[in-house]
Amino acid sequence: MRSMPDDLDALRSALELSPENVPLRTHLARSLLSRGAHAEAEELLRAGLRLAPDSQELKLTLARCYRIQGKTSAAFVIVEDLIKRSPDPAPAYLLHARLLLDTGERERAAREYRKALREDPDAADRALEKALGLDDEDDPGLPALGPTPIRLEAEGLEDLDPSAFRLERPTITFAEVGGMDAVKEEVRLKIIHPLTRPELYAAYGKSVGGGILLYGPPGCGKTHLARATAGEVDAAFLAVGIDDVLDMWLGNSEKNLHALFALARRERPCVLFFDEVDALGAKRSAMRHHGGRNVINQFLAELDGAKASNEGVLVLAATNAPWHLDAAFRRPGRFDRIIFVPPPDEAAREQILRILLRGKPVADLDHAKLARKARHFSGADLMAAVDRAVEAKLAEALAAGVPKPLTQKDLLAALKRTKPSTREWFATARNYALYANEGGLYDDLLPWIE
Ligand SMILES: Nc1ncnc2c1ncn2[C@@H]1O[C@H](COP(=O)(O)OP(=O)(O)OP(=O)(O)O)[C@@H](O)[C@H]1O
Ligand SMILES: [Mg+2]
Repeated sequence: MRSMPDDLDALRSALELSPENVPLRTHLARSLLSRGAHAEAEELLRAGLRLAPDSQELKLTLARCYRIQGKTSAAFVIVEDLIKRSPDPAPAYLLHARLLLDTGERERAAREYRKALREDPDAADRALEKALGLDDEDDPGLPALGPTPIRLEAEGLEDLDPSAFRLERPTITFAEVGGMDAVKEEVRLKIIHPLTRPELYAAYGKSVGGGILLYGPPGCGKTHLARATAGEVDAAFLAVGIDDVLDMWLGNSEKNLHALFALARRERPCVLFFDEVDALGAKRSAMRHHGGRNVINQFLAELDGAKASNEGVLVLAATNAPWHLDAAFRRPGRFDRIIFVPPPDEAAREQILRILLRGKPVADLDHAKLARKARHFSGADLMAAVDRAVEAKLAEALAAGVPKPLTQKDLLAALKRTKPSTREWFATARNYALYANEGGLYDDLLPWIE
């Protein structure tokens, strides 16, 4: 997606070889800034600061980068900090003056400019003096001082609405996911091992990349498993509700999708998880949305890009309605593994109950029997039942003034009062499995259909 001329590529490669080289990084960032590639510059500088958190040079350049993008308050924060700490605050004073001028505080700006000169007489800047009204001479080379509007092609993350995604570092691992052995194995093969053992895949000439699409009835652990995948490899977890992306940024979603992938790259290793991905792929829904087709194309392009260059970005998606998904999503390198996540079987339900009850005060329980009684329960249904039992027990304990452990009877009663939710889904799935099972796509579903 780079539109920059390739002379910067030499700098990029050099930096890849010596990421600790601060002057090189600053130089590249400045070159990018001068060509309008603000977002790439920002990414570069932030990555640099993770390696060298105290670098004044990187901080100053990042502040400039923010100012150019109109992120004035972020720029102020850095500059004010630099003024306090930097052994050579003149450049920070200068930038502070410019920022104050941007925001219309000419007087304060002039004061800061004078401080800069006091620190370093060589810091004099005629153009700035003129803008500050400190110099009467004409200066035809006056550069524009106001914030430059953000370019449309910039790869900025600034438009990302944090409420449309969740960035976290999960601590749960596969140990907290009951059952799903086949699914876990597939995720290991396709996602985890390529990340942890890339040399093995290379040795066999096995290409990596491409995502896994999980589908199945609600509450059976798709999202839970995706999060645990991140925990399993100690990666970041970026969960995106596609509906949110579409609704909040209507007309702007292509740009936002790109920014999302950029964010995932910045956080890598990162599990990028698209929840309810059918909303994006849905033929019907796409038509309802302005520019829906473009969004799909952009999404696919980003996915293909993820395969080509986003090593360390693992793409997972989940849906209840895979049949709404555009066939283009299933091409090799995209979501080329489509995995059915079934309701937990008896053994899995037993495991899930053990996981859910871990750390809670319980009496002797017959987990196997509870699992047997929870036919057609999803993981979420089991969670609801346990919650219900806990609440009842809590009320009892509050009344009695002493904590009491959960008993088999409590749990059985709660299970009885909870309605299993997985059957409904199969009623819909049935039609697709029987009549739209192109290429055996839904073969895994057939044994579940009555
Ligand atoms: N296999 C499982 N092991 C442990 N807990 C589970 C399992 N399946 C579900 N749960 C529990 O149920 C909750 C709901 O599951 P989750 O959100 O992952 O379902 P989902 O398949 O993503 O559902 P939806 O299709 O509605 O998004 C989880 O937060 C987790 O606590
Ligand atoms: Mg989910």
